[in-house]
Amino acid sequence: MKAYAYAPGKIIVCGEHFVVYGATALAAAINKGTTALAESSSTTTIYSNNLKVQADLSASNIPEKLKPLAAAITAVKEYLNERRGVKLKIRSDLPPRSGLGSSSSSAVATVAATALALGHKLSLDEVIKLAMSAERLVHKNPSGVDVQVSARGGLLLFKKGATPEALHLSRTVNFVVACTGVERRTSDLIERVRVWREQNPSLFNSFVESSTIMSWCCADALCSGDLRRAGAILNFFHAALSWLGISIKEIDTIVEAALSSSALGAKLTGAGGGGSVIILCSEEGVENVIKTVSNVASEVFATPLPNRGLKSWLQKS
Ligand code: PMV
Repeated sequence: MKAYAYAPGKIIVCGEHFVVYGATALAAAINKGTTALAESSSTTTIYSNNLKVQADLSASNIPEKLKPLAAAITAVKEYLNERRGVKLKIRSDLPPRSGLGSSSSSAVATVAATALALGHKLSLDEVIKLAMSAERLVHKNPSGVDVQVSARGGLLLFKKGATPEALHLSRTVNFVVACTGVERRTSDLIERVRVWREQNPSLFNSFVESSTIMSWCCADALCSGDLRRAGAILNFFHAALSWLGISIKEIDTIVEAALSSSALGAKLTGAGGGGSVIILCSEEGVENVIKTVSNVASEVFATPLPNRGLKSWLQKS
């Protein structure tokens, strides 16, 4: 039997970085993600179609980029008390290191497909717990928002350590994602914000509170279809994140181009320092925004919300 799992990537609509310090953030699953195929086997091998890299888990020299997936498989095997291994193949249409949750969607899909290949359909909570062990290798101190969104899908209000609140969108909300093509490490940006916080503790704490209040407002605006209000909140978040020093010229150029066309709001998403920009649009504005920002971004795509979360299934070989 072949076991498949698909898990989407994510955008943080607002509240990134502050979420690490206890703020509530708003995040959503997107229409791109990772598919894992696992088959039970006497040994464990991993093949990444995107990286064109293979690893044998019995070898000592596992390539750095495959270590989080190796950790995810090991976590599943230990949890299930399984001695069998899996042959895992992974393929993603998410640009890596772009703040779109590619590592989390890989971890979530790997955990679900591995367990299914070994005869176990895990609950969402179990998948989330095990995928977090892989995420800790990548992000050191992750808030968990990426894994939660990838597993649950939809639009979520997320607070570290609490069960996320799933929100209902009364109609489709249109976002455009524009990638800068500048790769960066989330952990470096988290460190930069940590230093800023250390130098400005009271101000930073007040931002954590503002971030929660504005994430709630943004959630309410998106759910009630008040896209102008949601867009205005996104722009303000961009200014705050920029002030913390995590925007770069390439991001600001995309934000400016988007707002000069028909965007309702635009901001960096995720860690910053490169990665991607999210742009909120009316349905009629999507085409115009894509055309304008394509001149200044390395990859641009539309992602209407909501999108589904983890899906896993078996197929006869
Ligand atoms: O994975 P990224 O690059 O989208 O960044 C994650 C968002 C942060 O808030 C910066 C970190 C976290 O763990 O929530």
